[in-house]
This record gives sequence, structure tokens and C-alpha cells, in this order.
Amino acid sequence: MKSKLFVAALMLAVAVPASAQFAKPEDAYKYRSSVMTLQGAHMGRINAQLKSDKPDMQAIATNAALLDTLNRLFFTAFPEGSDMVANSRAKPEIWKQSAKFKENADKLNAQVAKLNEAAKSGDAAATRSAFQSTAQACKGCHDEFRRD
Ligand code: HEC
Repeated sequence: MKSKLFVAALMLAVAVPASAQFAKPEDAYKYRSSVMTLQGAHMGRINAQLKSDKPDMQAIATNAALLDTLNRLFFTAFPEGSDMVANSRAKPEIWKQSAKFKENADKLNAQVAKLNEAAKSGDAAATRSAFQSTAQACKGCHDEFRRD
């Protein structure tokens, strides 16, 4: 009985949307900055594989699956007004053009799904091309929504 209650409480905790979990805008900034740093790291690992003559497609697929999760986490960490946090490079356009911002995030998710598929198929050329489109999706959003 006790353990059932515990499981129920745990499930409730998990069901709370991540955006509601930041007590302060600084916390949201730290969270997204950490996630983005990881996104950069996993993109870097895929890039390193693709530079080799015999890329490890399984490693690329693993990194693409991690990116898929990280992309979703990142998007939950933009409470309105959190561009005012020290060091944040977020532009106010994120909230003024929120539909467009979300479009950019969706585009990245779609590209990462393609990258994962290509890697799983073992086709290095298709994986290279999907990786380039993924990097473009990162850059596209940065150009519009991140300060220099
Ligand atoms: C939907 C828009 C969007 C997409 C897509 C996006 N980014 Fe970002 N990224 C941002 C914004 C906005 C910031 C600035 C956040 C801040 O400073 O508050 C940022 C910041 C960063 C940072 C700096 C983190 C830090 O604080 O040091 C890195 C690294 C980064 N992004 C990597 C990536 C990579 C890699 C991808 C693609 C896999 C990506 N981003 C896709 C919007 C995006």
C-alpha cells in the first residue's frame, strides 16, 4: 500500500510540465544553457565521427537519440522575461514571435529524427547531409533569436 502511494506521488511529480519548475528566471537560464551546452557536445561527437573514413553509425544514432531528448528539454526552459537574466543572449522576439520560435524548434526536431534514421540505415552520405541540415536548423534559430 505504502509503495503504491509512493509510485502515485512520483508519477504526479513527473507529470508537472518542466516550464512550471523554475522558481526564478535565473534557474531557467541555467537549465537551458546547460542543455544547449550538451546539444553542442553531442553535435560535436557526431561531426567527429562523420570526419572519419569509417564513421561509427551506431554511435551517431546514439548521439542523435540524445539530441532528440535534449531538444525537447531545451524548449521548456524559456519562461517569459528570462532574457533579462545576466549573460543571457535570448532575444525578446522569442516571446513576441513565439509561434516562429516553436517552428524553429520543431524544425530541429524533424531534422534530428532524419539524422537518426539515416544513421540507423548505415548510409554515411545521407547521414552527412542530414547532419548539415541539423546544424543549419541550430544556426537558423540562433540567427533570429539569439543575440551576438
Ligand atoms: C528554437 C531556437 C533554437 C534552436 C533550434 C537551437 N538553439 Fe541554441 N540557443 C538558442 C537561444 C535563444 C540561445 C541563447 C539562450 C540564452 O542565452 O538565454 C541558445 C544558446 C546556445 C548555446 C550557448 C549555451 C551557453 O549558454 O553557453 C549553444 C552551445 C547552443 N545554443 C547550441 C545549439 C545547438 C548545437 C543546436 C542544434 C542542435 C541549437 N543550439 C539549436 C536557440 C536555439
